[in-house]
Amino acid sequence: MREKKPLRVALAGCGTVGSGVGEIIVNRAGELAARTGVRFEVGCVLVSDVTRKREVPFPAEVFTDDPQALLASEYDLLVEVIGGTDIARTVVLEALAAGKPVVTANKALLALHGAEVYAAARAGGTCVAFEASCAGGLPIIGPLLRGLQANRVRSIMGIFNSTCNFVLTSMLDGGMSYGDAVQEAQRLGYAEADPTLDVSGGDTAHKLCVLASLALGSNIEYERIARRGIDRLQLTDLRIAREMGYSCKLVGIGRRLTPAPTGQPQQLYLAVRPTLIHCDHLLAGLSGTRSGVLVDGDVVGETFYSGSGAGSLPTASAVVADMIEVATGSAQATFNQLCVYNDCTPPADYVDPEEAEDSYYVRFSFAPHRRADMLADVDHAWRDNPVKRLQTHVSRDDHVVVAITAPVKPKLLGAAVRSVAGHLQLSDEPVMLPVLEARGS
Ligand SMILES: NC(=O)c1ccc[n+]([C@@H]2O[C@H](COP(=O)([O-])OP(=O)(O)OC[C@H]3O[C@@H](n4cnc5c(N)ncnc54)[C@H](OP(=O)(O)O)[C@@H]3O)[C@@H](O)[C@H]2O)c1
Repeated sequence: MREKKPLRVALAGCGTVGSGVGEIIVNRAGELAARTGVRFEVGCVLVSDVTRKREVPFPAEVFTDDPQALLASEYDLLVEVIGGTDIARTVVLEALAAGKPVVTANKALLALHGAEVYAAARAGGTCVAFEASCAGGLPIIGPLLRGLQANRVRSIMGIFNSTCNFVLTSMLDGGMSYGDAVQEAQRLGYAEADPTLDVSGGDTAHKLCVLASLALGSNIEYERIARRGIDRLQLTDLRIAREMGYSCKLVGIGRRLTPAPTGQPQQLYLAVRPTLIHCDHLLAGLSGTRSGVLVDGDVVGETFYSGSGAGSLPTASAVVADMIEVATGSAQATFNQLCVYNDCTPPADYVDPEEAEDSYYVRFSFAPHRRADMLADVDHAWRDNPVKRLQTHVSRDDHVVVAITAPVKPKLLGAAVRSVAGHLQLSDEPVMLPVLEARGS
């Protein structure tokens, strides 16, 4: 293979992901060049603290803490792995304005300012690539941009946040409380010192915003995604879910709700919430730090992608893949050709989350002295209720009765559960969680 002239890289950020990128492009330079014809040279690296000792194979003189020095350096490609929407946005927009292609792992930037970034790339006659932004090393943007183009995507859903998945797995398998599981995730480096963005569902919503915009062909606003995190989940519900054949995960979901007349935009349902997933569902088996995305296309049916959703080398794997796509010209060709980016798609038409039907898990908790009569009490209180129960489960050790309902709108469910609870002597507020059944079950 004929090797091209080395591509000069300006690297904005050299933390978890940036150091992984450095390790791959330096230690694997020969192998990558032999396979792809591409070689990278890192000329300038932006960090916040130039004095920090780093385990990266770059000479000391390439580091700067001045964004303008990075942008003034000689480079052909900017790789942005700083994160956030302040300095990252500035360097990305300035590089694009100067006609330089950008590779970014930054879902927050794309979820909050995607249309601006894509428009800046078009104005600069260049492109932006972002495979690492949505599920670390798991390749999902590539399939959405290329392999699935023949399809009208009906839904995209997944487990996008490794920290939450680790916390939920630790609670269930290690019997830990939510607080202890978060501390364990921090100790092992899976959770930030401030884990709020992860556990509140914000990070999952960033990723869903980017993925669903591409998959469903609409400019989706991050703020319109209904979201609930894992911070109020209780170990009891995780255990009971398992007894009933479900696992509880933080799921991001985007789906078209109704068939639309030809040419009309379809209403989209977008939500991030802790969800009980039936054990036969493809997403149910993902534990620890694994992520997974399930895409339902009208031509191909379901396709499933899973892998390491975060971490230094897995995420750098996706960044370097994008760098090669930029170097070979395919990132530019895709960006020029496809009308799937937020700057050229119509605004999404959102369905009110209260109008979307799902099955729900409903847990009623009783005081210990009531446990002999719990089931009879629930049966009696539920008898004229319009919401159908598909199954009922009793756990005498936990003093709870759990119902799985037929699909119902949240508003109707809330009223029904309040009415049932009004006839019961409960020790706690009822808990309601949406349920994802396996297809065909
Ligand atoms: N970590 C993951 O597993 C993962 C997975 C997928 C996507 N991502 C995305 O990748 C991006 C980077 O994440 P990360 O985990 O690598 O972050 P990180 O470890 O915190 O690294 C951030 C880097 O940016 C530098 N930096 C931060 N603020 C700066 C400023 N004001 N001026 C100059 N440099 C600054 C830091 O400098 P110092 O080194 O001097 O502190 C550090 O090198 C984020 O957008 C994140 O969402 C991360």
